[in-house]
Amino acid sequence: MSLLQGLRVLVTAGPTYEDIDPARFIGNRSSGKMGFALADQAAKLGAEVVLVAGPVNLTTPENVTRIDVRSAAQMYDAVMASLPADFYIGAAAVADFRPARYASIKIKKQDEDDGLTLELEQTQDILKSVANAEMRPSLVCGFAAETHEVETYAQGKLDRKNLDLIAANRVGIENSGFESDNNTIYVFTRGLDGKQQFGPASKYDVARSLLEYMAQLQSQRQG
Ligand code: PMT
Repeated sequence: MSLLQGLRVLVTAGPTYEDIDPARFIGNRSSGKMGFALADQAAKLGAEVVLVAGPVNLTTPENVTRIDVRSAAQMYDAVMASLPADFYIGAAAVADFRPARYASIKIKKQDEDDGLTLELEQTQDILKSVANAEMRPSLVCGFAAETHEVETYAQGKLDRKNLDLIAANRVGIENSGFESDNNTIYVFTRGLDGKQQFGPASKYDVARSLLEYMAQLQSQRQG
């Protein structure tokens, strides 16, 4: 099937690692499976696909151009350099904060009882930057990983980040979100009431449904 023939799809996947010192970093539980499933299915639907991946242990899907990065700053640079695109899908769990300073040698414990206070600063919001870029893709889709009040937080991100749609998923429960092979997403679309639910199903099936929905939205908008 070639529903996305002629379209360029840019996907992010996986975590980012924000280095504290040569031995330690701040990371999260993203395995990259959701983003890789999206890249895989977009390629199978005929799109030209660029996948910007954080540190993950997954095989590159067929017919996908993969760019590996480590930190949020590197992911930002790789994404911006990969524009223009028709669709952008931000499935990566980008760190919101990174250490304000990198220690070039390993931080040592001082006294037995001493803790360590890390100063953190915000990373750049890649999704918001893409949604406000001069070369803005015609559809910008964010993901929202929430433990509670999924709808309220997802709607907030849709507006605040100037997105066309956002796919919210629950994290912290079985068969959903981080690491699982399966997922359920609730998709909120700008200008449309209500939500679409895809899943529970494998991340591949959920990805396929989201991409088909985006293709439909794109053709409706083009009239
Ligand atoms: O990788 P898996 O193990 O398969 O798990 C999949 C997943 C749970 C990671 C995925 O489905 C998911 O929900 N990804 C988004 C996780 C996340 O970071 O959500 P958030 O609510 O913190 O961020 C909202 C959106 O802003 C996301 O699209 C994120 O990519 C983007 N963002 C966030 C911070 C930042 N500095 N730049 C961004 O672009």
